[in-house]
Amino acid sequence: MPRVVVFDQTGDPEVLRVVDEPVTAPAAGEVRIRIEAIGLNRLDSMMRAGTFPRPFHLPHARLGCEGTGIVDAVGEGVEEFRVGDAVIVTALPTMDRNGTYADYTTVPASAIIARPDGLDAVHAAALWVAGSTAYGALVEKAHMRPADHVLITAASSGVGLAAIQVANQIGAVPIAVTRHIAKKEALLAAGAAAVIATEEDDLHESVRRVTGGVGVDIILDSVMGPGLSDLAQTARPGGTLVAVGWLDPRPPSFPMTGPLTIHRYVGFELLADPGAVRRIAAFLAAGVRSGTMQPTIDSVFTLDDISQAHRHLERGDQIGKIVVTV
Ligand SMILES: NC(=O)c1ccc[n+]([C@@H]2O[C@H](COP(=O)([O-])OP(=O)(O)OC[C@H]3O[C@@H](n4cnc5c(N)ncnc54)[C@H](OP(=O)(O)O)[C@@H]3O)[C@@H](O)[C@H]2O)c1
Repeated sequence: MPRVVVFDQTGDPEVLRVVDEPVTAPAAGEVRIRIEAIGLNRLDSMMRAGTFPRPFHLPHARLGCEGTGIVDAVGEGVEEFRVGDAVIVTALPTMDRNGTYADYTTVPASAIIARPDGLDAVHAAALWVAGSTAYGALVEKAHMRPADHVLITAASSGVGLAAIQVANQIGAVPIAVTRHIAKKEALLAAGAAAVIATEEDDLHESVRRVTGGVGVDIILDSVMGPGLSDLAQTARPGGTLVAVGWLDPRPPSFPMTGPLTIHRYVGFELLADPGAVRRIAAFLAAGVRSGTMQPTIDSVFTLDDISQAHRHLERGDQIGKIVVTV
């Protein structure tokens, strides 16, 4: 019998249970996918822990907004995909009902794209959420251009590493920020032009040195918290800050210096636009083809070890994406 991960109440990783359930037939406009690999996201652990800001259904909630697999059945009216196609799930705001932590899931055909050639299932599972967030925030929101200096916080996260690659693909200059000096070499190897390890380096002095005293053009921030206004002071006058996440759960401080354009990026909003999904898919596929976009994999778990995978995600010492194979 096919397996599905469910939870009946929010809490620690141990609330996740693997249960057996029959598959459902796709309705009109839907496709059923035999999942091969799942990319884990901070969003998943927030939902499981009960800190997710959107309402969802309990008990028996499913989990997982990202994954890759093979189309297994198509519903009436689906023209663009056939049984046997390798695909990536692009965004599942309804993951409590059709999440990817399972052997099979059924989703609208509009929520999948063809898997780019040249990616195995593990790397394909790690491409979309990090890549689309980095691309959406930097290109669609901040209008990043070649030669822009881009400061990237939590640079060892899936989103941070993808942002380094997106910046390099455009010809911008990615400056990575990590708290830990031990991650410096890995971030340079991942393509950062410079790395600031805040446990040793002074943020402002480092930015002044790298930008010739001008300040960065764009800040991509996944942390927020009380340090936000200090971080904003690394931007040049007229620069742009895009806030994509709040890894620091404390209330953020509002940047009072300026002029500065501030965006709050929410992926599900951009992904509701089919034109944006086409642009993201084309950008990521071009990056895979040319070798600039290659998801960094921290570790691989199996579906039966899903609680252990979530514990690893929450320790925060990873460099890149955690993937679960099915
Ligand atoms: N807006 C959207 O649509 C969207 C979509 C996807 C993800 N996101 C957000 O993007 C962020 C990254 O997501 P992800 O899944 O790629 O993350 P992840 O891989 O789980 O990120 C882990 C890294 O974040 C850093 N970190 C953790 N807690 C931190 C803290 N309190 N302060 C500073 N750094 C901290 C650590 O790096 P160091 O130890 O090196 O500092 C850690 O290695 C999250 O905030 C997530 O919610 C947003």
